[in-house]
Amino acid sequence: MNKPTVVSGIRPTGYLHLGNYFGAVRNFIRMQDDFNCFFFIADIHSLTTHPTPGDLQSGVKQVLAEYLACGIDPEKSTIFIQSDVPEVTELYTFLNMNAYLGELERTTSFKDKARQQPENVNAGLLTYPVLMAADIIIHKAHFVPVGKDQEQNLEMARKFAKRFNRMYGKNIFPIPRPFTFDGKDMIKVPGLDGSGKMGKSEGNAINLYDDPREIRKKVMRAVTDSGPNEMNQEKPEAIQNLFTLMEIVSKPETAEHFNELYNKCEIRYGDMKKQLAEDIVSYTAPIRDRIIEILEDQDYLAKVAKMGAEKARESAAKTLNEVKNLIGFKKLF
Ligand code: ADP
Ligand code: TRP
Repeated sequence: MNKPTVVSGIRPTGYLHLGNYFGAVRNFIRMQDDFNCFFFIADIHSLTTHPTPGDLQSGVKQVLAEYLACGIDPEKSTIFIQSDVPEVTELYTFLNMNAYLGELERTTSFKDKARQQPENVNAGLLTYPVLMAADIIIHKAHFVPVGKDQEQNLEMARKFAKRFNRMYGKNIFPIPRPFTFDGKDMIKVPGLDGSGKMGKSEGNAINLYDDPREIRKKVMRAVTDSGPNEMNQEKPEAIQNLFTLMEIVSKPETAEHFNELYNKCEIRYGDMKKQLAEDIVSYTAPIRDRIIEILEDQDYLAKVAKMGAEKARESAAKTLNEVKNLIGFKKLF
C-alpha cells in the first residue's frame, strides 16, 4: 500500500490563527488517513526574524500542542521539529549551490520581509525558499498543503527539485504540488481590518487560543461601513472579508441569510458580527480547551516530539544518502 507523501510546516512565531487553521492545519487533519504525512514545526525558518531563545522554545511547544489539539494524530502522521532533523540542513547546503541570487531576490516573500525588517536582511531570508524546498523534497513529497501566500515559495521548491533531477540525470525527487481539497484554489483567509489576509505580522489575527471574550472583542471591532444603499450592490473589500470569513466558519444558510439582508439593504453589521463571533467561538472553544490540557502534559509533548524526530530522521537520512551518492561524495575510508 503506497500512499502519496505529504509535507507541510508552520513557523513557531506565535499562536496559530484562523488563517493558519483554515489555510493549512485543517487540511493536515483531513489528509492523515489517505496520505503518508509529515507535519513539522519550522523552528529553523523562524530564526530569520531573530527570536530570543525563550520565545523560540515556548513557540515550538505552543505549536506542537496546537497541532495535537487540532487533531493531528501522532500515530497516523509524523509530527516533528525541524531542528531535530539535521539532515535537512545538509540537503539545504547542497541545494544552495544551485540556487541563484537573481531568482532568490525576486521572490515576493523576500522582498516583503526585506521591506518589513530593513535592519535585518540576512542570508537566511534570501535562501528561505531553499530550506523550504529541502523540507519538502527530503521526504520525496508529492503534495504540500499550504495557504495561498505560500504559492510562490512552493513554485521555487518545484523549480529546485526539477533542477536537481535534471543536473544529476535521475528523477530522484517527485515534483511537489500544492494540495487543496476538490481541486479548489489555495485558500486566503482575510483579516477583519478592512483589507488583506489574516496574519501574525499583520496584527489582525484571531487565534485558536484566544478566549471567547477576546474573540468577541476582535470581531466586534472589524471594519465595516455605513451599509449598502442600493439593492444587490457589490460589496467593498472590508465587507466582503466579513462574508468570506462567515462562509468559512458558519453554516452555509447563515452566510446566505446575511447575504440576502445585504442585498435588500436591511443588513445590520452589528448582528452579523455577533453571529460571526459566536460561530468562531463554537469552532475554537473545544480546540482551546484541548490546547490548555495538552500544554500541561510535558511528558506527552516530549514523547510525541521524540517519536516524530525518529521517524522523520529515518526518512530524511534515506534520501540524503541517495543525494550524496548522486552528487559524487564517495566514502574513501
Ligand atoms: P503568518 O502569515 O501568520 O506568519 P505563516 O506564514 O506562518 O502565518 O503561515 C503558516 C501556514 O498558514 C502557511 O501554510 C500559510 O499559507 C497559512 N496561512 C497563514 N495565513 C493565512 C491566511 N490568512 N489564509 C490562508 N492561509 C494562511
Ligand atoms: N514557509 C512556510 C510558512 O511561512 C513554512 C514552511 C517551511 C513550510 N517549510 C515548509 C511549509 C515546507 C510547507 C512545506 O508558512
